[in-house]
Amino acid sequence: MSDRSKKIQAQQREMPEPYEGSRPIPWLVITIVGALFAFAIAYMWATYQNNPPAYGDRRTAADFKVAAPVPGAMVDGAQIYTAQCLACHQATGLGLPGVFPPLAGSEWVTGKESLAIQIVLHGIAGDLTVGGNHYNGQMPTFKDKLDDAEIAAVVSHIRENFGNAAGKVDAATVKAERAASAAHGQPWNGDAELQAMK
Ligand code: HEC
Repeated sequence: MSDRSKKIQAQQREMPEPYEGSRPIPWLVITIVGALFAFAIAYMWATYQNNPPAYGDRRTAADFKVAAPVPGAMVDGAQIYTAQCLACHQATGLGLPGVFPPLAGSEWVTGKESLAIQIVLHGIAGDLTVGGNHYNGQMPTFKDKLDDAEIAAVVSHIRENFGNAAGKVDAATVKAERAASAAHGQPWNGDAELQAMK
């Protein structure tokens, strides 16, 4: 076999040499994209802005403030219950078994006005019996959070709802109870302190 035919055979055996191609972006695409850019800029330039920027939303935080409640105005006990109590005692007033005691049918709620008021004012920590069941949780204090009218409204709400019909309490009673227990710095110690106040 000649040298030349050997070379041809070798060439046929091998794969062709790889090479790096070049595929530029087609001119049509470049033209369309360029035309879109030109159109966008021309459009922005030509658009007539009929609203001067000074007409924007110029309201300040002060414009969104709700007017302060008028002292002595009606306070909504149901609304306070929803905001302050519902998370624990539930919308039904039935609480959560073993964790949050029920307000429905509770002797603490429907008993003396002063008792329910004192519980809401100072909260409770320690063992508490409600309807024969034992609870040992933390009832928060509301004396710094709610004023006399608000406590009166929410106590009235729990005494008059969830099947309870124990009557409303007024802000003057809450004021007197607040003054009478002003020296009491911590939550009531469950049954140990509250049974005596029944
Ligand atoms: C963070 C949860 C929580 C919130 C909020 C809460 N309570 Fe309580 N409440 C408790 C717990 C827990 C007890 C039982 C305390 C114990 O076991 O010592 C309790 C007990 C009571 C009791 C006496 C027991 C009973 O079931 O009658 C009354 C009355 C009461 N809460 C009313 C209210 C009112 C009114 C509000 C809203 C102003 C309120 N609670 C908000 C957790 C809460």
